[in-house]
Amino acid sequence: LNVLVLHGPNLNLLGLREPGIYGSTTLDQINQQLKEDGKTLQAEVTPFQSNHEGELVDAIHQAVDRYQGIVINAGAYTHTSVALRDAIAAVSIPTVEVHLSNIYHREPFRHHSYLAPVVVGQISGFGPESYRLGLQALVSHLQLKAT
Ligand code: DQA
Repeated sequence: LNVLVLHGPNLNLLGLREPGIYGSTTLDQINQQLKEDGKTLQAEVTPFQSNHEGELVDAIHQAVDRYQGIVINAGAYTHTSVALRDAIAAVSIPTVEVHLSNIYHREPFRHHSYLAPVVVGQISGFGPESYRLGLQALVSHLQLKAT
């Protein structure tokens, strides 16, 4: 299994950025952990971060025929991007949405996700564990589909 892990805007600053909300773990540490988890789950994990909406759209298009699943933390684009939602719907690669913080505990503008209707499911609020849980959930979803 090949899994693409997409990180949206400002997630390159993890560790420095609002540590009270997002914690002190860096993006590199999250990616390393996911690669480790991938070994146990027999999934090859490829991370990609961009601050640019169009680059994330391109990455989703280029995932076709290369990745069987996507884990995405779209950051603020979660709450704004019809383009990312349409890209996920267009490629029909099973996708799991993750957030470090619980977006429903926060400001009302974070309560709506444009991605939620086109993803398999969402994991929100477990810090870096959200990514690990998201990867596990995606892999079990793909395995169930294959049987
Ligand atoms: C986030 C939540 C978003 O509201 C925010 O804009 C982010 C990070 C999270 O992981 O908790 O950049 O997606």
